[in-house]
Amino acid sequence: MSKYSALTQLELDAIGFLEGFQVPSWNGPALPRPQGDDGLEEVIDTVGTLIARNQNLIQAKDGLSIEYTLRGITATAERFLYGSEDQVEGAALLRALLTYVEAFLSRLFPDRAHRDRIASAFSEFRGTLELRAARPFVKPHRSDSSPASSRADDYSAFTLETPDQFTIGWTTFQDLFRHGYPHVDDYVQALTDPEAATRQFWPMIRSTALPFDLFVLRKLTAATVADYRTNFGTGWLAEYDDLLGAANLYGIDMTVFSGLAPESLSDNTVRFTPNSMVLLTMDGKKNLTPIAVYVADPQDVNNAQTYTPASPAWIYALIAVKTSMTVYGIWLGHVYTQHLVTAAMIMTGVNTLPPTNIIYQLLAPQSNYIVAFDLVLLLAWSSLSPPTSISDTGKFLSLCNAFSARHDFFSTDPANLLATLSPDDFSDPAINNEAWNLYPNVQVAQKIWAMVASYVSAVVDAGYANDGAVTADKDLASWIGSASTIGNVAGLPKMNSKAALKAVVTSVLYRITYHGAGRLRNVGAPVPPFAPNYPPCLQSTTIPDPSTPLSTADLMKYLPNIGTLGSLITFYYIFAYNAPNVPLVPYKGPEDELFFDQSKYPAANQALIDFRTDILGFISSFQPDWVQTGQWPRNIEL
Ligand SMILES: [Fe+2]
Repeated sequence: MSKYSALTQLELDAIGFLEGFQVPSWNGPALPRPQGDDGLEEVIDTVGTLIARNQNLIQAKDGLSIEYTLRGITATAERFLYGSEDQVEGAALLRALLTYVEAFLSRLFPDRAHRDRIASAFSEFRGTLELRAARPFVKPHRSDSSPASSRADDYSAFTLETPDQFTIGWTTFQDLFRHGYPHVDDYVQALTDPEAATRQFWPMIRSTALPFDLFVLRKLTAATVADYRTNFGTGWLAEYDDLLGAANLYGIDMTVFSGLAPESLSDNTVRFTPNSMVLLTMDGKKNLTPIAVYVADPQDVNNAQTYTPASPAWIYALIAVKTSMTVYGIWLGHVYTQHLVTAAMIMTGVNTLPPTNIIYQLLAPQSNYIVAFDLVLLLAWSSLSPPTSISDTGKFLSLCNAFSARHDFFSTDPANLLATLSPDDFSDPAINNEAWNLYPNVQVAQKIWAMVASYVSAVVDAGYANDGAVTADKDLASWIGSASTIGNVAGLPKMNSKAALKAVVTSVLYRITYHGAGRLRNVGAPVPPFAPNYPPCLQSTTIPDPSTPLSTADLMKYLPNIGTLGSLITFYYIFAYNAPNVPLVPYKGPEDELFFDQSKYPAANQALIDFRTDILGFISSFQPDWVQTGQWPRNIEL
């Protein structure tokens, strides 16, 4: 494997300088870059793969074949979302990406030989893109390079006209549209009927969008309610105190966006992430429902409103909360928790542990791709990131700084995220005897955690006879020392017991493994591509008066427009419609491609086989209609 080093603040500043945005002083976990010849090849491979992956979406996008009518124009979903020249536009976007990445890589790899290699690789990439843009089915008349916004078939600023039109994000490829269609009435009701919106709010969050890691519900106590009371202000009702006293008040705090500006686009539209909070309560049947919402402008706390189910603008309020949660899920639940912290642990692990170390043998095979992908994401943000208001790397790093200051290494483990909730409140014996059967996402997280923990435990037992053996392993001590200092990962324990080692390694490997679930069809669809279910942004910064009725037509102006939908759908489809570079369960079966030195650690290899068999079994029960074993990646690839 390549060796890694941390990007310096100067290098981060240079990314901002090249692309014209502010980079904050970075306080989060180290952001690694690969080094040397191998490291350069790793980055070049990643860029090449990303270019190829866009090409792989042609079939799925051509399956956006259902027709819609907007502003009197009738056209297919594909035409609305991507115009008639997606290949040309896509190639132009990727060319821009290449310019940034090449310029920055030349700074990271200043050796003459490296620069030559970069120049030849990138000229090859450009050649590929030229060929792609010149494909014969592209309309031949357009030879200028005018921006997309001046084109007759650019619909990006269009707002959808009726809620059922959000099926526009469902391709017919691999039957996604057919799979989603039975749910349309429910999804539409959540946008038109306030009672349905209230009723559906929690059931959707508890059972979908696994990659966002949205374990953000907290049971509130006198000690934790203060921020809610402050923000709700005069909107705080006596009944909330009664519910708090009865230990029946829950909250979701989505105010981490303070200071964040909306994004203004060249088509005169805007993407906005509000700060928000929601209060919920549980009835006798353990239904959890929202009872109050706070929505605020992250740049102006005085521009805020509070809503109750009696407010005429209640549906807006729930959509605003879901927008905050989606943005939180993408950037903090997913990228920060699963990519950034993991990459800092991998960087320091690969650099300090010798290949003979059993923990190296455990982690290294599942540590590929992530460092180069994260780096390319930072360099080519505008081409790779989904359409949230986090529109550049600087904004992303600022958001992560705020989150990092309040979250140490273990705090995002599922058990810690769920610490305020009682399993009894989320379990119904009338359904079955399983704990958390009223919170299916917790069951999934716990199952994956248990599989990873059991594997890691067996490997640590195979390598270390007792706690003394862990303490005596100086390589482990230097890994954790380096992760705490150079890696800047807070809250790591001393390596003086098997339990401490198991806790750290399980948390790292859990992130990599859990991340893989996001590639499965049933995770990615049909819920998230029906965009109001998880809106990536609001299209207006106006926070409406709670007492003024908001018609469905008015509400549509807040919901994702065509430009947002096009970018969102490409983003989701990249996960669903690309096969992984390397699957977690080998193509030839769980016994193939074993990681450990068989002469020394046969028990570790057996544990690996068991782990893969467990994952295979999980996929079969989670997605019995299509057991996509090969779709679960071994590494964090994107
Ligand atoms: Fe990811």
